[in-house]
This record gives sequence, C-alpha cells and structure tokens, in this order.
Amino acid sequence: MKRVLFVCSGNTCRSPLAAAILQAEEPGAEVYSAGLAAYEGSPAAEAAKVVARERGLELSDHRAQNLRAELLQGAICLTMTRAHQDEVRRRFPEAEGRVFSLGAYAGEPGEDIEDPVGQGAGRYRETADRITTLLRRAKERHGWLYLQLVGLGSDHAGFPLKRELLAALRQEGVPARDYGTDSTASCDYPDFAQAVGNAVATTEIGAGILICGTGIGMSISANKVQGVRAALVQEGLGAELARRHNDANVLCLGARLIGPELAKEAALRFLRQPFDGGRHTARVDKIRALEG
Ligand code: RB5
Repeated sequence: MKRVLFVCSGNTCRSPLAAAILQAEEPGAEVYSAGLAAYEGSPAAEAAKVVARERGLELSDHRAQNLRAELLQGAICLTMTRAHQDEVRRRFPEAEGRVFSLGAYAGEPGEDIEDPVGQGAGRYRETADRITTLLRRAKERHGWLYLQLVGLGSDHAGFPLKRELLAALRQEGVPARDYGTDSTASCDYPDFAQAVGNAVATTEIGAGILICGTGIGMSISANKVQGVRAALVQEGLGAELARRHNDANVLCLGARLIGPELAKEAALRFLRQPFDGGRHTARVDKIRALEG
C-alpha cells in the first residue's frame, strides 16, 4: 500500500502542490498533505492554484489541515525541508524511520524546498519543478520499493545486526519500520518472521528483512506465510538475483555469518532491484500455485 503524506508549514503552497503532482503520477497511491502551523480550512495560495492548473492539476478544493498522529499512520512522511523533518520526528517519535525530507528521500539530503509564499507565480513554478525533479530522483533511487516501507525483524541473535542495518538504511533515506525484537534477551525467531511476513502479505509494507543467527530459521518460518517469497542470501549478488529472478519479497540474513557492511550491501541491492519478469514470471506463478 502506497500511502504518502507531504508536510510543510502552512499547508497552502508546497505540500498541496507536491501531493497533487505525486497523485497525478501515482493514481493508485493514497496521497495527502498537512502543515505544522496551518490555519485550518485555509484554501491553497492563488499562485499555487495557477501553477497547478498549468500542469493540469486542481487545488481549488484543497483546505489546509494541521498534522496529527492519525495522518501519519502507515504513511511515509515527506517534508519540504530538513527543519520540517526534524520537527515531525520530534513531535511524533512513533513515526520513527518513516519521516524524511523530500531531498533526503531523493538522495539529496542537503536539498530543501523553500517557502514561495507571497512571491510571484514564477517562484511557484520553480517550486513545482523542483518537487517534480526530486520525486523523479526518488523513484530512480528506490526502484521497486518507491513509496513503500521495508520492515525489519530479528531474534536475539540477529538483534545487534538488525539495529545497525536499520540505522544504515534510514541513513540512506530508506523508510524502514522495526518489528522487533528490541534486545539480546532470548526469544523465538518464528514470532518475528510471522509479524514481518504478515505485514508483507497484507501490503502494510513492500518488503521485509529478517535476521537470526544463520537466517535459516527466519527463512523457513517466513516462507510458511502465504504470499511471502523469502530468500536466504548472505551476499550482494544473491540478494540482487533473488529480486531479479524470484521476485523475492523478504530477505533473510545470518548475523553469525556476515558483518554489517555486507548486510547493508545485500539489503540495498535487494531493496532497489526490480523483478526481471519475462521468462521468470511463469516460474514465480508456479511458486504461487504451490501455495494452493
Ligand atoms: C538462535 O540461537 C538461533 O538458533 C537462531 O538465531 C537462528 O540461527 C535459527 O535459524
């Protein structure tokens, strides 16, 4: 499920424009916007409406709203500036790992979309162009997982590697949700494989990464969940081919077998590589048929 929330200050210029631009490109996604200091019910700025209309988009029904916890639920939150990103993270710590500036999500973390309010239509045009460019870069960067979350789970043996990998992925602008465990206290890997596997199967997240001592218990367990194709791989090429040939949606790693650098490489190659389709499609369909 692609659910995207754009956030700016007043929710009358940048974020409604960004939402309209993305919604037109991704009609299947749920896209909306909010402000950190909005006058509730204010219409979009006139110049924003004009620039939207030039692009075949309509903002005349837009009404400003303030950001609240429900709006963030299950969504990737893309803010216009780093200051907005920091403020959303501060106010809503429960959304950890899902809040990025649009620049950071596009792989340009130093990029802010500055406020065009009170300036002419020319500035709004530049704003709309910049948003469009950053969304295009984000799409290239995130590949098949564009606008979707990845979920990470581990048992006690995988916990230290999961913690490192989660931080590394978020540093790369990958929206990632943590499904536990949250310490090295002994626990059972099938519980976490089930949580992440179900989240993949219900499309709450686009992909999963599961880590135990060897990755074996996680892969056996995750593959019991209908709709999950979990691949046990301990290096980058295998991770990439699991996507290209098998359309795998869960990557399993063994914390006792590989270190953080290799885990990060495998994860990023897995998360960014689309399925090749073609001759592989019929084979993946036969895997689905085995599920009964
Ligand atoms: C836990 O000691 C270990 O058995 C588990 O992490 C995993 O390797 C199972 O496959």
